[in-house]
Amino acid sequence: SEADVTVNIHVDKPASKINRNIYGQFMEHLGRGIYEGIWVGENSEIPNTNGYRNDVLAALKELQVPLLRWPGGCFADEYHWQDGIGPKEERAKRVNTTWGGVIDDNRFGTHEFLDLAEMLNAEVYVNGNLGTGTPTEMAQWLEYMTSDSDSTLANQRRANGRDKPWRIDHFAIGNEAWGCGGNMTPEYYTDLYKHYATFAKTPHDNTPLFIASGGQNAQTDWTETLIKAKKTGVKMDAISHHYYTLPTGDWGKKGAALDFPESEWLSTMVNTVKIEKFLMDNIAIMDKYDPEAKVAFNVDEWGTWFDVSEGEPGFLYQQNSLRDAIVAAVNLNIFHKYAKRVQMSNIAQMINVLQAMILTDKEKMLLTPTYHVFKMHVPFQDASYLPLTLKNNGKYGEGENSVDKISASAAVTKTGEQWLTLVNLDPNKAETIRLDGKYQGVKGQILTDVKMDAHNTFDKPNNLAPRQFEVKASNDNFAFELPAKSVIVVKLNN
Ligand code: AHR
Repeated sequence: SEADVTVNIHVDKPASKINRNIYGQFMEHLGRGIYEGIWVGENSEIPNTNGYRNDVLAALKELQVPLLRWPGGCFADEYHWQDGIGPKEERAKRVNTTWGGVIDDNRFGTHEFLDLAEMLNAEVYVNGNLGTGTPTEMAQWLEYMTSDSDSTLANQRRANGRDKPWRIDHFAIGNEAWGCGGNMTPEYYTDLYKHYATFAKTPHDNTPLFIASGGQNAQTDWTETLIKAKKTGVKMDAISHHYYTLPTGDWGKKGAALDFPESEWLSTMVNTVKIEKFLMDNIAIMDKYDPEAKVAFNVDEWGTWFDVSEGEPGFLYQQNSLRDAIVAAVNLNIFHKYAKRVQMSNIAQMINVLQAMILTDKEKMLLTPTYHVFKMHVPFQDASYLPLTLKNNGKYGEGENSVDKISASAAVTKTGEQWLTLVNLDPNKAETIRLDGKYQGVKGQILTDVKMDAHNTFDKPNNLAPRQFEVKASNDNFAFELPAKSVIVVKLNN
């Protein structure tokens, strides 16, 4: 009918490539994100390959993880890389002062991280220590990882079991300098960035993209100060920004991961879509100083942050439900739209921490609804964004406290396949979607449930999983129903 939401895909106007690194992951020395989550050690009873657990490795391969960020986060600014190399039993034991005060015995270090990325065929993003490390320490870490020479550091790497240098794709100088990274002003950090970047040298054929750590939420002053500094000739390939979605918006009482009222479903949606305005405001500043878009604007931390579900509060473990799946799909649609500038995003975090893909309980493992959304979106990695218009899109909620009901994006792959993703943010009402144009049908997957907090448990790991979604067009007026609180990712057949 006339009132249906109508999708018009502008297939004749393919725009920016959706960098596959928008589907990047973040792994920090935090809680059970690394220890237990992926690293169990060669002698563990949990089946493993060289210390990495087999079940998690297989799940990550399926996900086609394009990029891994490590070792933090806040942890990065207290991490001294020499602690994590050499014979494991001789490695330093350090207190993880940011996350739970536990001992980190550094069994997982530079070699373990870079070898993992190689096994997954993922690009690497190493976050350097500006907060408590020196420019020398940072420069030497880069030399240790990238030098093919006869230097003492390169030979130390060889003695530790790695002959050839690794490829380092991305390297950040500090993290959240406005907070855990040193409580700095944008001006002070920018000067330090320039200082450290000057000495962060690498072989000419193994030069990472250098990332400056920017602001958070609605802030734009970090972006402005940094991008202006770029004019002075300092190397800077990207500025990163962070935004977390809290149901209540209140860090003191963020809201529960499960069993929440509908008011918190709505406020979660209202809060998560704010990222679009944050991107627009920051990108407008970048456009002013860098009109050719040489410097990227990356969101290297994002996702939901709830009250801790169980265990040590400093471990940030939370369950993950259909609501998280919707949040993920909506954010990915927004990142697609700004793909010209947004070259990378890293959801926080890959395993057992915040909005995770995977949860583990000792030998058990489950895939979260967010994992399923990322997997459904694999065809969008490196595809070209197709602009679209949505007619008759309604609102869920009232006034300021409302969001567009439907979120959508489309892309065309290198082989010419057209893909569409549609999200219904309304938890109560299905929507009829009409596709403008000549299509024979759509085929793909849907993730939905009757319960707002539908989720997977170690006893019922397949409670919420994608199902086939296929509709054949019967005439020119091609319409189908998008259930309440659902995500579909479909191939368009024309
Ligand atoms: O992802 C958890 C933490 O959130 C990161 O360590 C930090 O950068 C941010 O505050």
